[in-house]
Amino acid sequence: MNSALRAIAKVSSALGVQVLGVERGFDGLIDGHFRQLTRVVSGGMAPAAELQPEGNAGGTLLGTARSERFRTVEGRAEAARRLLSLGARGLIVIGGNGSLAGAHALAVESPVPVIGIPASIDNDIGATSDSIGVDTALNTIVEACDRISDTARALKRAFIVEVMGRESGYLAMSTAVASAADAVLLPEHKRSREEILDSVTEVVLSSLATDRNKHQVLIIKAEGVEGSTEKLARKVEARVEHLDIDVRGVVLGHIVRGGNPSFHDRMLAGRLGLVATHAILSGATDVMTAWRTTTEGGRPTGDPMIELFGLGLVMSETEALLDGSSAVTKRRVRRMEEIQGVLAL
Ligand code: F6P
Repeated sequence: MNSALRAIAKVSSALGVQVLGVERGFDGLIDGHFRQLTRVVSGGMAPAAELQPEGNAGGTLLGTARSERFRTVEGRAEAARRLLSLGARGLIVIGGNGSLAGAHALAVESPVPVIGIPASIDNDIGATSDSIGVDTALNTIVEACDRISDTARALKRAFIVEVMGRESGYLAMSTAVASAADAVLLPEHKRSREEILDSVTEVVLSSLATDRNKHQVLIIKAEGVEGSTEKLARKVEARVEHLDIDVRGVVLGHIVRGGNPSFHDRMLAGRLGLVATHAILSGATDVMTAWRTTTEGGRPTGDPMIELFGLGLVMSETEALLDGSSAVTKRRVRRMEEIQGVLAL
């Protein structure tokens, strides 16, 4: 998100437009907590000095918050009043589904133009095939799995590694393939705890069968899958007692979020930031920048990889993505099933 802020400030400075950052999300907008992201320098404008190093750091230098007040019409009206009193030409909201839903409501209810930029490690935002943070999270998980695999191989152990993804198995699926895991557990499959226990036991047994000559088992479990990872590891270990191997559960948790962004994320954030800035200055509103979309109904931009989608459509696509009815989810689940079939080798 810092890379997106830097891009927005750079593009705006080049166009002679001032950028104010809103601290602590929608709460900060309601309370008027702003920070200059551009400054006047000899010969024109420049991004705030802090954006040079901070643009390479994870998270957001502006901070964020889950705002209860912004969920109300009154809260959003107060936020719009703040923006209008500043003479703002528009608001760019960088965030996940909650933030984009807030952006949509504000765009519909107020005269202030609002543009969304998708940012969520879960890759669960409709209409875009990628969101800021996904690639960095994937790289972090793959690196963690490689490290865990070193121990697993050395000691002939089985590991169940839990990664973030409350409602979406995207991170688990993608990293299972990249880490050459033996199996992956996804919330989209909606399996019961008993079914999960049976299939994980089966994977451990078949992976360590003597003719396979394998010295480790790696299973990736998405956070949204029913049941505690540690308990699952204990139960599987009890079931394969005769093999005398350790089965360990590791929850990567918030390690998966944050960290210096990958090249891909910096590039994505930069290009989405550039398109969002031009869009807001040309008067567009209630739209989101989408990367390499497979959804119909977008508007082209100056970047061949980016289209603008109405935030209302993004919201309904997101819902369909999460309840399994979207074509994107169906394709992902099909791919997950194919992967499930080839992973347990
Ligand atoms: O951004 C979404 C997400 O990464 C989920 O996958 C995860 O469940 C959640 O955030 C964790 O959020 P919190 O830090 O509030 O527990």
